[in-house]
Amino acid sequence: MSGTRRGPSMPVLLAIPVVLFVVVFAGARLLGVGGSSNPFADQPLYTSPDTAAAGAAQAASGDDQRILSRLAEVPQGFWLTPEAYPVDRVGAVVTKVAMAADLAGRTPVFVIYGITDRDCSGGQSSGGLPADQYAQWVGAIAATAGKHAVAILEPDALATAAECGQGQQRTTLLRGAVDQLDDRDVTVYVDAGHASWTDPRAMATMLTDAGVDRARGFSTNVSGYESAADERTYAEAISKALGGAHYVTDTSRNGAGSNGEWCNPEGRALGREPAVADDGHLDAYLWIKPPGESDGTCGGGPPAGQFWTERALQLARTAGW
Ligand code: BGC
Repeated sequence: MSGTRRGPSMPVLLAIPVVLFVVVFAGARLLGVGGSSNPFADQPLYTSPDTAAAGAAQAASGDDQRILSRLAEVPQGFWLTPEAYPVDRVGAVVTKVAMAADLAGRTPVFVIYGITDRDCSGGQSSGGLPADQYAQWVGAIAATAGKHAVAILEPDALATAAECGQGQQRTTLLRGAVDQLDDRDVTVYVDAGHASWTDPRAMATMLTDAGVDRARGFSTNVSGYESAADERTYAEAISKALGGAHYVTDTSRNGAGSNGEWCNPEGRALGREPAVADDGHLDAYLWIKPPGESDGTCGGGPPAGQFWTERALQLARTAGW
């Protein structure tokens, strides 16, 4: 050999862009393309003016009116079910909310609640879409929610998957939904039940099967009553098993913790008001379930999702409002 120093050979030159592409692409996948930063750190949460609490406030008077008006000002989840918003109408309602939120420079939180065999164990919110229609419905939401939107994906779906014999089909449907939402840059949290329900390692495995790697992370305690401290421990265990996934926790009705019941339990209280946390893996405390909306026809309540003024007032007064 002559000992002359030569530049990199042609194959090496060609390999450089390929390696760069792989590194950047893999890095983006690890971070979660649609959710690599805390969405709640950028702008405040959106409060819809059309909530049931706002309507109830108008019909009330005196101290009840004071409480209900204050309740209506707290940002809460905007629930999308195929029963209320079928595939041909859901895009229009999501567009309306997303545009109003954008104009206000605020972040809307949509709760996607339409999976096949929904609430197969509790029964109070049973329904959802047949598997072959689910992707189309989620697609209409993904196409209209906008880049600043947050989606809480399918409360209870993973926590109930095993007891309802829904394991594989459910994770497949969720994975498809995460992909559709992430493709449109919607920040996704896949629901992970709550601290008194599922083992955190088992939940982490289900979240992985459901494609959580393309989501910002997961949500806990949606419509639940578990204490913030218990949720923290549960969520941190899941996060650790997932290599540091982020999460949000519903604190709408957990101010007095749980009494072990899930369906309209007596004596509960509003919890910590929504706030960005940016504290380790916890992105924010949210009010995902609108307080006062019933869990179902139990404990004297109206059907699931209907506003129950008396209960809203009780939750607020127990919290010292
Ligand atoms: C109900 C939904 C409702 C949601 C929020 C669920 O239990 O099934 O219809 O939108 O709660 O209140």
